[in-house]
Amino acid sequence: MKNNILVLGGTGKTGRRIVKRLNDLGHHVRVGSRGATPSFDWNDPAGWPAVLEGMEKVYITYQPDLAVPGAKEAVEALTKVAKEKGVNKLVLLSGKGEVEAERCEQIVLNSGINSTIIRASWFNQNFSESFFLPPIQAGVVALPMAHLGAPYVDANDLADVAVKLLLSDDHQGKTYELTGPSLWNFEQITAAIAEATGRELTFIPISLQEFVAALKEQGVPGDVVWLMEYLFTEVLDNPTNQVVTNDVEQLLGRPPVDFLQYVEETSKTGIWNAKVEA
Ligand SMILES: NC(=O)c1ccc[n+]([C@@H]2O[C@H](COP(=O)([O-])OP(=O)(O)OC[C@H]3O[C@@H](n4cnc5c(N)ncnc54)[C@H](OP(=O)(O)O)[C@@H]3O)[C@@H](O)[C@H]2O)c1
Repeated sequence: MKNNILVLGGTGKTGRRIVKRLNDLGHHVRVGSRGATPSFDWNDPAGWPAVLEGMEKVYITYQPDLAVPGAKEAVEALTKVAKEKGVNKLVLLSGKGEVEAERCEQIVLNSGINSTIIRASWFNQNFSESFFLPPIQAGVVALPMAHLGAPYVDANDLADVAVKLLLSDDHQGKTYELTGPSLWNFEQITAAIAEATGRELTFIPISLQEFVAALKEQGVPGDVVWLMEYLFTEVLDNPTNQVVTNDVEQLLGRPPVDFLQYVEETSKTGIWNAKVEA
């Protein structure tokens, strides 16, 4: 049976991979993003009913992060519209070790709609499609908490899991914690990318205070600086997040992609060799 499925953040790191997989399977997919038609904007609830019209299943990614003020209220309002529109399955992307995000998870689980939570570690693709890419392209990676390892998960594994959960009536009320198979710290990551690309990359361990000051100096907006500081302290510097789970393998019946595999594949695209304007 083919379904009508809304993928919020459908042009993002996880969403666009999920959209591709669902389209390949012949489902009717609606991309939820500000640039889509109808447009979906977390800051404009008036537009949500039109986006949810006719949808049976919804993959929810909140922007910028479930930990920010206002996320809980927005997610709650969205689940109400989803219920009114007859949505019968929700899959929420959440973050590991974020207390604020857990409140949003509870709202989704208590929405009265069959729901499943994906709690993910940081993504491998943060280094090729997000905030850690520019320093790598520039050749100098200066980050705090250099010694802390995280079990980065691959966005492709996450997409495979999300598709499986969206298309299944099982897993109701379940929360899955997705990680990769090993812990990697920033220094090891920089070295692995340097090795795979043959580039000289310098890693500079800095303090969190220096990192925050540098973001401010670059003109990064205050709420984004707050979020980065939150992610480094609450998520990265959190022993409960420095643990590998086997949920990817349990759900997909195969091991998760290892960070080194991701590095080898990504280095072939040339993204890490791209020249940066001075
Ligand atoms: N990165 C990580 O390591 C990590 C780990 C665990 C959990 N997460 C969670 O993952 C979520 C982000 O998912 P992602 O990384 O797949 O997406 P992403 O790559 O950050 O992509 C952003 C997507 O959201 C849309 N978007 C941006 N602002 C929006 C707004 N105001 N209203 C509606 N749509 C908006 C964008 O499209 P338009 O620009 O066209 O609107 C795009 O489709 C966040 O909740 C984050 O906390 C991330």
